[in-house]
Amino acid sequence: MSGNTDLIEALQTLEEEALQAVASAAESDQLEALRIQYLGRREGRISGILRGLGGLSPKERPAVGAEANRVKARVQEALEARIASLEAGSGADDIGDVDLTMPGALPWRGGRHPVTQVIDELWAIFRSLGFTRARGPEVETDWYNFVALNTPLDHPAVDEADTLYLKNGLLLRTHTSPVQIRIMEAHEPPIRIIAPGMVYRRDTPDATHTPGFFQLEGLVVDEGITFIDFKATLAEFARRFWGPGTEVRFRPGFFPFTEPSAEVDVKRVITLPDGTTEETDWLEIMGAGMVDPAVLENVGYDSERYTGFAFGMGPARIAALKYGVRDIRVFFENDIRFLNQFAQP
Ligand code: DAH
Repeated sequence: MSGNTDLIEALQTLEEEALQAVASAAESDQLEALRIQYLGRREGRISGILRGLGGLSPKERPAVGAEANRVKARVQEALEARIASLEAGSGADDIGDVDLTMPGALPWRGGRHPVTQVIDELWAIFRSLGFTRARGPEVETDWYNFVALNTPLDHPAVDEADTLYLKNGLLLRTHTSPVQIRIMEAHEPPIRIIAPGMVYRRDTPDATHTPGFFQLEGLVVDEGITFIDFKATLAEFARRFWGPGTEVRFRPGFFPFTEPSAEVDVKRVITLPDGTTEETDWLEIMGAGMVDPAVLENVGYDSERYTGFAFGMGPARIAALKYGVRDIRVFFENDIRFLNQFAQP
């Protein structure tokens, strides 16, 4: 290594050392001492190197001289800046008025809506139980929405007070059950589907009703499907969604398209923040039942050969129960302060 590079390296080490010392000096006395130590005319370490230039060969001199002058200027500048910042009373560091304890500003990030998160969870469970996904139109006819589902047109649900009718005898589907009919018309058993989608009713919004909402329909049809399959599948679903300690109850109910029909309730065990557990009341999570043979006959299935079960639930209601939300309108208002509570990492 030539004397040239040795000296340049020494200068750079000196520069680093000097800048660090300047940055950590908190008083002007210390800064004056540093000025003398590095830049003082007689004893200053950088000045010393500049003075020694005379001993270098004319070839080496310009590079070392230029570097020494650069380091000198840089240290001089740092000293002056530090003195100015101390005089400005900005404290012991150079970052002025920045408050290091202030939380940083995170960029806005999109996330899935809480009801969408629940739909995705429901779907994942049914997929793992062997269901596939199906869909049908939101604009339907009387046949699919009511008649084929064993609901006579003089049934109260068909009334204009509940159903949103369009022109030409069309209507907005009031439930996802018509997808059952469409799927059975198009396919032979075995059938094992989940049909998610929007449904519409002529309801005035309140804490538990909105005129449009999401439903998740399920249908299983095959030879030899029994009430045991029905109960076991839905109980397994409920325990996967609500937790292994969940109790499941099948309460007698009525739907025109199922016989027998049931309302499915769960009783959850919740763990409180202090680690203790508490049981909830019975919570109704869905309507369900064994597919009425008349429905199977309506799609041309042999109801002596095939049996099945069906169920329908409202993901917003499930989300409300899951998160303790008492008014489902918050799911539609989309107040970002509400939604942010469900942000996922
Ligand atoms: N369609 C019913 C409703 O909207 C829900 C339902 C009940 C669906 C029982 C079903 C069922 O498939 O078996 O209220």
